[in-house]
Amino acid sequence: MSQPLIAAHRGASEFLPEHSLAAYRQAIVEGADGFEFDLRLTADGHLVLHHDRTVKRTSDGRGAIADMTLAQLRELNFAARHPDCRSDPEAARIPTIEDVLGLVADSGRDIRLYIEAKHPSKFGPRLEMRLWETLRRWPGLQATVMSFSRAALKTWRRLDNTTPLVWIFEYPFRRPPEGVQALSSKVDHVESTPTFFERAHEQGYEAYVWTVNDAETAQRLAEAGADVLFTDRPAAIRKALTDSPR
Ligand code: G3P
Ligand code: CA
Repeated sequence: MSQPLIAAHRGASEFLPEHSLAAYRQAIVEGADGFEFDLRLTADGHLVLHHDRTVKRTSDGRGAIADMTLAQLRELNFAARHPDCRSDPEAARIPTIEDVLGLVADSGRDIRLYIEAKHPSKFGPRLEMRLWETLRRWPGLQATVMSFSRAALKTWRRLDNTTPLVWIFEYPFRRPPEGVQALSSKVDHVESTPTFFERAHEQGYEAYVWTVNDAETAQRLAEAGADVLFTDRPAAIRKALTDSPR
């Protein structure tokens, strides 16, 4: 049986600012098979990597991404809570999708991209449309589109019939949206529901788990049949799987 792929969740974000270019560069160093990242649209139509609706938790500023221009976001320091690296531009600057796609292209590595469209968004399906336009300009990358939002996945399928789609959800297991290839759920939900992998695979879906930062948990999930593990610690989880008796 093959080992799950290891995808860096918001980059190798255990010690580096989440979603920073520095965290993705570190993920490459740590041998991650893929990058996971969240996308939001700025007020002037740029796709930036960010989890929360606002920048309060992650930066030294305030406000919603959707109400700010890229230039305004670039004035903020997203490593404000990481004293060791706050003067490093790759740690402190919010990346655009083009920044991270450029990093992957320049790496020469076969990095898979697990791209989460974050909703609700006041821009609605414009987020998916901008993503679709962007990915068209970067042929050859291995992109998978993910969302909690059924509407976002439906929008994507209307735009493009080839990109693999992942539905992210929290338990209980519910009927997946049409046209998705994989299901992704939260580690504690998966751990408390041993039938997750069996049910997903029986129904023809791959089964992904987030966020797996503990070695023993990773080994257990690999044994149970996980196809992708999202982790903040790619090297540690790789080592756990390599050391596993499986
Ligand atoms: O890949 C799924 C996972 O990233 C979803 O949760 O909150 O980390 O975006 P969140
Ligand atoms: Ca995410």
